[in-house]
Amino acid sequence: MMNIQSTTKTLAEIPCDALVVAVYADGQFDATLSELDMKLNGALSKLMASNELSGKCADITELIAPAGLAADRLLVVGLGERPQMGQGNAYRACGAAAKRLAGKPRKNVAYCMGHDWSLELGRAAVCGALVGCQGQDLYRTKKRLHEPDQITWLGIAEQDLQQAALTAECINHVRQWVNASPGFLTPAWFAEQVEQTVGAHGVEIEIWDEQKLEQQRCGALLAVARASANPARLVVLNYHGGGESQPPVALVGKGVTFDSGGLSLKPSDSMKTMKCDMAGAATVAGTVMAAARLKLPVNIMGVIGLVENMPGGNAYKLGEVLTARSGKTIEVLNTDAEGRLVLADVLDVAVERSPDRIITLATLTGACMVALGTDVTGVMTNDQGWCDQVLEAADRAGEPAWQLPMFSDYGEQINSDVADIKNIGEGRWGGAITAAKFLEHFVADLPWVHLDIAGPAFLEKPKPWLDAGGTGAMLRSLITLLESQ
Ligand code: BES
Ligand code: ZN
Ligand code: ZN
Repeated sequence: MMNIQSTTKTLAEIPCDALVVAVYADGQFDATLSELDMKLNGALSKLMASNELSGKCADITELIAPAGLAADRLLVVGLGERPQMGQGNAYRACGAAAKRLAGKPRKNVAYCMGHDWSLELGRAAVCGALVGCQGQDLYRTKKRLHEPDQITWLGIAEQDLQQAALTAECINHVRQWVNASPGFLTPAWFAEQVEQTVGAHGVEIEIWDEQKLEQQRCGALLAVARASANPARLVVLNYHGGGESQPPVALVGKGVTFDSGGLSLKPSDSMKTMKCDMAGAATVAGTVMAAARLKLPVNIMGVIGLVENMPGGNAYKLGEVLTARSGKTIEVLNTDAEGRLVLADVLDVAVERSPDRIITLATLTGACMVALGTDVTGVMTNDQGWCDQVLEAADRAGEPAWQLPMFSDYGEQINSDVADIKNIGEGRWGGAITAAKFLEHFVADLPWVHLDIAGPAFLEKPKPWLDAGGTGAMLRSLITLLESQ
């Protein structure tokens, strides 16, 4: 287990394998860098003068065995342009340094970022550093990334550092869940994990098994799960940090532990990453856990629907009509549009428990990646005020998110001739939005924001600041949002 603590020692005195400091793109040294530069006999200014020291965000310049320091190596990481500095850059810069250093096992890595940084910036930096050093190599005998035994941080108070580390731990939990092999991460296994890990922090957990789901008429969710040997689960998490009478914020997550597409089978190339299709559920569980561990003064209800979408002799069929828990009938025209069917019933359970606002998190559509690329969360809503709060939190946290329109014409596309609605639109165009229009049928006019994280939840290729695989995207944004409630 890694240990993390703050120190008040001066830069030159910290005995460590590596010391990480930062430079802006404008090349102006702050107090930390000037102090170091003196200790190093002007080596840093020389490097800067000869354009060897890059201030571009997440670029790294490495000095080995710097004379005059107690550290074995010095990493200078770029922060980008000073006026644009924000949590996103702090996260990426520290993540890049951490990932680079994690290439080898190390005892102690020390970080010293700006002394004038806000608590928020510092927290993002710590998160980046703790997330960047953890890899997707869960099952490699020989790991590629090694967390250091010890991280020492300068310029952040011990208590703030520990709070930031808690958030980072929750992000890493989400990532590990997403990266876990779908061979054993089934709905029942995941439900149990959530009960053990999140339940350990004073969150009430309720698990529905198939009998209960039948009893509760969750016809849409159960249809998706029907051909799988691994039965479905629904998990409700309740965290009470706020006032007794304060209605909760509902976080609703898509937890398809593997999405083969069902009878509308995916081609291999699209199927190979589909263990990531429970990232919405993992993010909900991770966020509720983070809120509980941070003791945020809010009430949160997390509801996640866990199923495996498989083909088989009793698979749900094209043309089949399902009755959702709310009573609405749904014509199935593509079994690969399963996430919205699962969420239809999960949303109904959430709505019944009277939250005052809802957020859905789902790796819902490939179309969202066509629209926005792989790094941006698609945001859709029926309530602009609530949406603005979510967008502002994401902006503060430095996680890219962009709103898509919800014009009523899109909704026409999911009208069905045989049932109330159908589960796909007319053709592929606007697919992220027609999916959201489908979900809108199940939110009962409560203020609702839908986050389509199909792109950002899972990296096919590594970034300089993060290994490939699960990312934990939007967890910091949601914590930022919940803190401001
Ligand atoms: N899980 C997928 C969406 C997805 C695609 C997530 C790529 C992450 C990366 C979802 O269930 C799906 O297959 N959606 C279909 C919907 C279509 C059949 C209407 C899609 O987007 O192609
Ligand atoms: Zn699908
Ligand atoms: Zn899916």
